[in-house]
Amino acid sequence: MKLLLTGITGQLGTAVAEIAPRRGIEIVPLVRRARPGQVPFERLFPSLAAARVGGDVREPLWGLTDAELDELAQDVDAVVNLAGDTNWAGSGRDLYAVNVLGALGGYEVARELQRRSGRRVVYGYASSIFVAGGTLGRIAETPLAPDRHRTAYEHSKWLAEQELTRRHGPGEPDVLISRVAALLGDSQTGATRKRNSLYLLAERWDELPGRVLPAMRGARVDVLPRDLAAGTLLDALAGLHRSGPRPEPVVTHLSAGERAPSIRGLLEVARAIAPLHFGKWLRLVPASAEQVLWLSANAERFLPLSQAWRNSLTGLRYIGLDRVMERGRLAGLVDGPLPEPSTELLARLLFDLPAPKRPLAPADSGLSRFLA
Ligand SMILES: NC(=O)c1ccc[n+]([C@@H]2O[C@H](COP(=O)([O-])OP(=O)(O)OC[C@H]3O[C@@H](n4cnc5c(N)ncnc54)[C@H](OP(=O)(O)O)[C@@H]3O)[C@@H](O)[C@H]2O)c1
Repeated sequence: MKLLLTGITGQLGTAVAEIAPRRGIEIVPLVRRARPGQVPFERLFPSLAAARVGGDVREPLWGLTDAELDELAQDVDAVVNLAGDTNWAGSGRDLYAVNVLGALGGYEVARELQRRSGRRVVYGYASSIFVAGGTLGRIAETPLAPDRHRTAYEHSKWLAEQELTRRHGPGEPDVLISRVAALLGDSQTGATRKRNSLYLLAERWDELPGRVLPAMRGARVDVLPRDLAAGTLLDALAGLHRSGPRPEPVVTHLSAGERAPSIRGLLEVARAIAPLHFGKWLRLVPASAEQVLWLSANAERFLPLSQAWRNSLTGLRYIGLDRVMERGRLAGLVDGPLPEPSTELLARLLFDLPAPKRPLAPADSGLSRFLA
């Protein structure tokens, strides 16, 4: 497969770029022409510098020229949109431009490539499991109803899903709406592009007021290392490309689903691995869904909070609600097993805990025979 990929410089895109060559997948990255204050693309991905096209997901047809579209139509099999405004405290306007218009622009690009080439082109859009808003219990891989609890970020991702579903018609590109779980760094190296998302819990650990964390009893933390998410995303895209045309977008949860640990379990495992890492411990305080949702959305109305703190408070709802993302549709697309990261791995990645050391045989030869 050959992918036209946006968001390659982001957390998920970086992992896709690392894994793709091992699977024989080619990438044409679409990168903004100007990225002031950021490491130049050529330095981040030297091997992809020549293949890069310039563009912006906020522009019609992502700013691609007619000639570029003609060239891409020759061999691109899938348009994969991982570009996003991921600032949970961002302005509604910016979130709409990147997350909604960008999603629709990508669909138009896929449609245009399919029209020009006469071949099937698949469109993959990275949504978020957080479109669930305040919904509890089992969350199905189907379109979700309006929900008064959604934040501006969640609303933008939900709106993108709605619009893609509304616009999709027969004979149009197949659409994969991949609701991505919270992402951590690479499962092997721990490398992470940013310390956003769930890392905010670790970053704020020593500053949480009152040393309490409100969460529902049984609240889960649905999170994946980025490489596991990227590998499964590529599997799902290949699965959709292989299978017959779909009358409507296929929604999947790119998540740990029923294997996601509880917040209590995750924290207890972290403490068990490295008790000395945590100077102060937190108390999990049982709270209702309404309390968690209200606090995460409204504290800024009463407290002067920086943008960073608003992001952290929003994150409360991503660790404090009792719900499970279903993965049946994902399993139907992916050939192999679904991602099942161990709680220990997640705890290590989240809190940067050292890898376990193999016990060394003591100098006393009399004792060493007991250590295999
Ligand atoms: N990370 C998570 O925990 C998480 C959880 C759920 C869902 N998701 C979703 O998964 C997707 C990828 O997330 P991520 O964490 O990898 O994001 P990220 O690290 O914040 O990276 C965002 C990417 O989007 C690109 N981008 C932003 N605005 C753009 C524009 N106007 N035109 C072209 N490219 C643009 C950025 O490029 P520059 O380098 O040029 O800024 C960057 O490559 C997003 O849609 C996000 O909503 C992520």
